[in-house]
Amino acid sequence: MSTDGKGPRVIVALDYAHGAEALAFAGRLDPVRCRVKVGKELFTVSGPALVERLVSRGFDVFLDLKYHDIPHTVAAACRSAAALGVWMINVHASGGRVMMQAAREALAGVQRPPKLIAVTVLTSLGAEDLREIGHSEEPPALVERLARLAAASGMDGVVCSAQEAPRLRQACGPAFCLVTPGIRLAGAAHDDQKRIVTPQAAMANGADYLVVGRPITRAADPLAVLDRINAEIGCG
Ligand code: C5P
Repeated sequence: MSTDGKGPRVIVALDYAHGAEALAFAGRLDPVRCRVKVGKELFTVSGPALVERLVSRGFDVFLDLKYHDIPHTVAAACRSAAALGVWMINVHASGGRVMMQAAREALAGVQRPPKLIAVTVLTSLGAEDLREIGHSEEPPALVERLARLAAASGMDGVVCSAQEAPRLRQACGPAFCLVTPGIRLAGAAHDDQKRIVTPQAAMANGADYLVVGRPITRAADPLAVLDRINAEIGCG
């Protein structure tokens, strides 16, 4: 874990197709015990209004829109996202140094700027997929290269698998923020996640924040699962 920040370490992924469902579910959560993530599906259907409602309820919101475009466009998008009062936003590291620097500069004048995180390599891409789009490096080496580039371009951290966290912590230093999805409590359903890690192991590997979706959103008692995770990682 880095020296970065305080507060809840769990980010609950609000992967819902409708804003009303997401808001109803968020009503069962507690901003003191978790943060929340809004992704492309929910944002496309419910937009900034939903994000602002979550912010006004006291949640730290990770707006997971993975910007990847020309520097000017990404910078403008980051500025607009920051104006919503979100806590964390992200861009694709493969957009390059100039794009990431533009994103960073766009937040320079913002009073409480969101954390600016990069996506290195989508975990849905295997070695063969990467070769097909012109990458000769193996995925772990490419992930590290992009994480180092993200750090050098002013990013606050990266999204990565908890299995990659030790290598990236070593490469990018203690202040670099590592946000890890693919988290499952021991013995729980894997769903479609292939390389799962328990909350405790993820933190031991150096993760700062754990993105958790279905184990919490599909639980009969979401707060009980959240409390179990928080207890496991000694948080809250
Ligand atoms: O339900 P589950 O815990 O698998 O949800 C994980 C969340 O993290 C989802 O919103 C998913 O899109 C996101 N994510 C992921 N793997 C990545 C990057 C993001 O599962 N490599």
